[in-house]
Amino acid sequence: MSARPPQRIKTMCGITGYVGTKSASEVVIHGLKTLEYRGYDSAGVAAFVNGRIGVVKAVGKVANVEKRIAELGTLNGATCGIGHTRWATHGAPSDKNSHPHGTDKVRIVHNGIIENYAPLREMLVSKGFTFESETDTEVAAKLIEYHYDNCKNHEDALISAMRDIIGSYAIAVMFSDCPETIFAIRKDNPLIIGVGKNENFVASDITAVLEYTNTYYQLGDFELAIVTRDSVKMMDMKKNAVEHPLLTATWSVEAASRGGYDHFMIKEINEEPEAVRKTLHPRIRNLLPNFEEENLSDERLKNAKSVTFVACGTAMHAGLVGKTAIEQLCRVPVKVEIASEFRYNNPILTEDDLVVVISQSGETADSLAALRLAKEKGAYTLGIVNVIGSTIAREADNVIYTWAGPEISVASTKAYTVQISLIYLLTIKMAYLKGKISESEAKEYTRILYEDMPEIIKATIAREDEIHEAAKSFCAYSNLFFIGRGIDYHLAMEGSLKLKEISYIHSEAYAAGELKHGTISLITPEMPVIALATQEDLYEKMISNIREVKARGARVMLIAREGAKDAANEAEKVIFLPRCDQFFNAIPLATVLQMLAYFIAKELGREIDQPRNLAKSVTVE
Ligand code: M6R
Repeated sequence: MSARPPQRIKTMCGITGYVGTKSASEVVIHGLKTLEYRGYDSAGVAAFVNGRIGVVKAVGKVANVEKRIAELGTLNGATCGIGHTRWATHGAPSDKNSHPHGTDKVRIVHNGIIENYAPLREMLVSKGFTFESETDTEVAAKLIEYHYDNCKNHEDALISAMRDIIGSYAIAVMFSDCPETIFAIRKDNPLIIGVGKNENFVASDITAVLEYTNTYYQLGDFELAIVTRDSVKMMDMKKNAVEHPLLTATWSVEAASRGGYDHFMIKEINEEPEAVRKTLHPRIRNLLPNFEEENLSDERLKNAKSVTFVACGTAMHAGLVGKTAIEQLCRVPVKVEIASEFRYNNPILTEDDLVVVISQSGETADSLAALRLAKEKGAYTLGIVNVIGSTIAREADNVIYTWAGPEISVASTKAYTVQISLIYLLTIKMAYLKGKISESEAKEYTRILYEDMPEIIKATIAREDEIHEAAKSFCAYSNLFFIGRGIDYHLAMEGSLKLKEISYIHSEAYAAGELKHGTISLITPEMPVIALATQEDLYEKMISNIREVKARGARVMLIAREGAKDAANEAEKVIFLPRCDQFFNAIPLATVLQMLAYFIAKELGREIDQPRNLAKSVTVE
């Protein structure tokens, strides 16, 4: 018998719940469709009808469940319900394994992972419970039922279950003897309570309920919410009432839809100019960067002895751009740490260190754990986050929001572009405060970033046809190299990640000067090279590297500054960036690389917005 393969666990699942006067199944199905972008393999809905909880679930698309609900008619008239899109972790995709789980007494939907589900299941079996699915969620459902049977109190049962469960979860619960009420608990997994008029919602993501309301609470870890049509009560494990600010999402329904574009990814790239403007505008006063609204004091930036960026994936690559910018302009040492490694490296931090955690979602488990560790070590923590009220935003000592709007495509594009734009603005402020640049220099840098950059990004996007052509002629390979020096090397890493993520073409990002120390042996006519050369002082060196790889037969695509000397003679394809101060070239270069990955993936017919094996928000380690 072969051993069971280890399970890769990511939370792609989605939750929606509704209690109000509308058709619960319609509202819940609408919410689930909005969450489809997260990827899933089955779905289901439970709702109160005639004093009992009816359940309809099916493997495959939400549309299958919708059809089944219409055919069966068993949820007709229900005004309170919960629903779920599942991405299989424990147990294959099947009707049985789909959520909601439980019995006629208790039904639940769950995102996350119950790490100790095996001993809990054993305990429940010993108490006479039986199981019909292979899921950890059914264990949580029966555990809640077990406690409820013992204590006959809904809240106490849920609190006891929270005490027993080890793992991460966002769970919405319905008890059959408590109609028109949704209970919710969470730990390390996002869950919001949407607040409407005569109706309330629960959801794993505000986009699921935006059609109906944009005001919401973020439930905290180890908290319980009791949601009815006209009330939302939140409490901690000791049953003390908890108050959270009522947040307002500035995202519109349109922002969360494709709006005529083939994919969210290309729509989101097209939103970059506006996103940059929106993010920078509130932070500029008298033509200088200003973070007073965020209570980020000048002293804090001026006295920072070092800066550490901690993040994952693309957000970590934004930190790398920050490293080059800050070290160059402020002469302050900067470290960039991969959040999933941070904890294991016993980081050296003091109160004088500034730790910047970058995250689009604000929920990435590794980044959150790194943030908590940095706080424990006494460092001052600053979040650069896109989602209002997300866990990283709440737990960091301070937060600067990026106003990118909802990013739906798994591949991060506009979030990265605004992250680096904001980091440039912070860099200018810090350099000015530290006396490294004059007031007029600071004003000029700020002007370029705020006034010129949105237009430069627009001009970059306008080169779409050229980029698409280049993509067509480089898409038929299984392997590829990105090379660059200095900041271009950091962008090479991002370009490579983006390409791998959505096209499934393997690529390497290499510091161009490092090739000759071993890796150049891989360069053949079958290994095309994308060379990034946007820095004037490094250009000649890059040309030498390009000649090295061409001499080994590689086809070369070059991305360079407009007017770069002899570029057309050095490479088979050249994409020029629109004219820009080279200090900021990373921004339009990022857009080119995103579009290149997009068009290559499109040529290959990939599922661009939902690449295989990936989740938008990775809320487990
Ligand atoms: O939500 P976060 O910014 O914390 O996510 C971090 C990474 O998971 C994310 O940037 C990932 O690398 C992207 N899918 C890449 O496009």
